Amino acid sequence: MILVTGGAGYIGSHTCIELARVGHEFVVFDNFSNSTPAVLARMEQIIGRPVIWHAGDVRDPAALDKVFAGHPVSAVLHFAGLKAVTESISQPIDYFDHNVHGSIALMGAMARAGCKTLVFSSSATVYGPEQPMPVAEDAPCAVSNPYGRTKLVVEDLLNELGRSDPQWRIATLRYFNPTGAHPSALIGESPLGTPSNLMPLVCQVAAGIRPSLQIFGDDYPSPDGTGVRDFVHVMDLAEGHVAALDFLTKNQARIVVNLGTGHGTSVLEVIQTFERVSGQRVPYEIVPRRDADIGISFADVRLARELLGWVAKRDVDEMCRDAWRWQAANGS
Ligand code: NAD
Ligand code: UFG
Repeated sequence: MILVTGGAGYIGSHTCIELARVGHEFVVFDNFSNSTPAVLARMEQIIGRPVIWHAGDVRDPAALDKVFAGHPVSAVLHFAGLKAVTESISQPIDYFDHNVHGSIALMGAMARAGCKTLVFSSSATVYGPEQPMPVAEDAPCAVSNPYGRTKLVVEDLLNELGRSDPQWRIATLRYFNPTGAHPSALIGESPLGTPSNLMPLVCQVAAGIRPSLQIFGDDYPSPDGTGVRDFVHVMDLAEGHVAALDFLTKNQARIVVNLGTGHGTSVLEVIQTFERVSGQRVPYEIVPRRDADIGISFADVRLARELLGWVAKRDVDEMCRDAWRWQAANGS
């Protein structure tokens, strides 16, 4: 049985679908601060069987102990946490509380239950802005916002935990830019309030919810001058988690691995691809660079291929098509 914290969220819910597809049993633990139990009903529709879940907070040791006591948990996928960079600057205490304190409480409950296999959601944001691309896992880390700092602190803690007790099997996965949705359009990304990420904004402009997209800068050293990112389909990410779990089952190891495609796509290319596959127009205007934005970011993905045998299979066409299908079916 796999415990999935934050399993009702965007990446967690898609990963649960993949867990079910390959025959893993799982239990979702989520406080629904950024999701709703309706997601679980949608997941049940996709996998064709009930989803076991508990409402609870990862900062609550008693709630975690109860889950471990009630299920034979062999490994944990830890997605639960807060993830908005800008919000983290105004609410650093909340970010450290959910992301660091929450992870510490989880590790404590795992240790008490004798479960020492963990896959942790980290982020490409831990790499400093000055890194040559593609960026590999051994590049120096440097973070410029509280959200990134919480990821790095937990990474450090996991390192120390593994050093103190080699029985721990830990995969730290550094995601690049997750996007897209399950092809059923039953689950996808539902940002609360105004989205800040590119693809949800593109979808809302295409749906007529917003008049136009602002492109933050066209003077980056990329072919068309707009920013470049390594967009990775959320179902590829889901498969990456299952691959990491398989790896940890076979190896008593601690690994840190990038999950991306290894290819950069510019903001303008995303818009053009989206317009082509959706048949919708996405009006845009060029505005100055966003504060503290990185110009170009894409992953060195050799380690994921070597260690996990995982390679992202879906291209930007598929990401745009699935994101739009989700928006068209669920957007208001
Ligand atoms: P999400 O907000 O959609 O999912 C997180 C889930 O965790 C939500 O369902 C939320 O209700 C739950 N949660 C939050 N705090 C909790 C707590 N204290 N206790 C229990 N549940 C709690 O986010 P996501 O995009 O699915 O991201 C999942 C993980 O991946 C996060 O740790 C995030 O930092 C990391 N990550 C995300 C991205 C991205 O662009 N989406 C990129 C890199 C890393
Ligand atoms: N962009 C625009 N206009 C917008 C929104 C974004 O031009 O309205 C551009 C950005 O300037 C950037 C690209 O689109 O060039 C992607 O921006 P996102 O905000 O979607 O993604 P980021 O790479 O900046 O940040 C994301 C997550 C972070 C995470 C980071 C690395 O939001 O939480 O990826 O994983 F840390």
